[in-house]
Amino acid sequence: MKTGWRTPPKPKVTMEALRIADLPNLSPDMATGPAPARQQVWRPDDVPPFPAVALKALNLMAGKDTSLVELCNLIRPDLAFSTEVLRIANSPLVAFSRDITNVLQASMLLGFRRLRSVVITVGLRAYLAHGFTPLLESCWRHSIACAIIGERAAKACLLDKEFAYTAGILHDIGRVVLAVSMPNEYARVVERGADQPRDLLPVERALCGIDHCEVGGTLVREWTLPEAFSWITTCHHDADAHAAGEDCIVRQSCLLADALGFGVAGYRSLRSYAEILNDFPEPARNLFRDEQELAAEIDSQVTMIETA
Ligand SMILES: [Fe+2]
Ligand SMILES: [Fe+2]
Repeated sequence: MKTGWRTPPKPKVTMEALRIADLPNLSPDMATGPAPARQQVWRPDDVPPFPAVALKALNLMAGKDTSLVELCNLIRPDLAFSTEVLRIANSPLVAFSRDITNVLQASMLLGFRRLRSVVITVGLRAYLAHGFTPLLESCWRHSIACAIIGERAAKACLLDKEFAYTAGILHDIGRVVLAVSMPNEYARVVERGADQPRDLLPVERALCGIDHCEVGGTLVREWTLPEAFSWITTCHHDADAHAAGEDCIVRQSCLLADALGFGVAGYRSLRSYAEILNDFPEPARNLFRDEQELAAEIDSQVTMIETA
């Protein structure tokens, strides 16, 4: 587990405030068409809970004495989760030479860190399964692309690649929650992003009353996940907040995923692939020189995870 994380900025809102907050009046340059009726920003009944097993697995990361057996014991009693883990363990993504028939066997072969990544991936997929719209599908593909890029870049830079993968999966969880809880408003946000390259955070604040970084950070704190994750979800669009290390890698990986075409529902990147790549540490820059090859590799891995 990483140590020495900075304390994320104090949340400007609490979960309770999010639940009862009203939409602000929309500024004419942010919204098109008539302003929607005032309504609650946060409707907890519309937001499915993140799978308990995935949350526990994420929390286990904070414990220094966590073992493979502990993680395995979490998964086994959850039939749906066990089934999904076995499906991934038997998929071409993992490519073991023999059939994996139980969770303990899968755990032994995958190893603790890989199993943990699988659990988080399965958790996000289960979370998104509540009405898998094209918008949510693009959120899913963006998160997986960011995770894959982050994992590879972190490995090249001798950083914690498993942390980078997991953080990549979780970094835009606030966007997923906004898209689930406010589908109409968030569809309008996305339309604005497809219109021309722009920073979508002000558009989110104008149309949804809050941006996905604040929603994600609040949610991750509510889930009592390790602080490193609330830092990533809150600050991954803040260039000044990420000087080095895994959090910097995740931020750059999010931008590179957008530039590669794994943006949310047609979002157009503000900067070119080459410009973003230039901000990566040198070992990662060398790894990602061929833009088309990287896009094809990620597309094939995302599809494999989707169909596993
Ligand atoms: Fe984001
Ligand atoms: Fe992102």
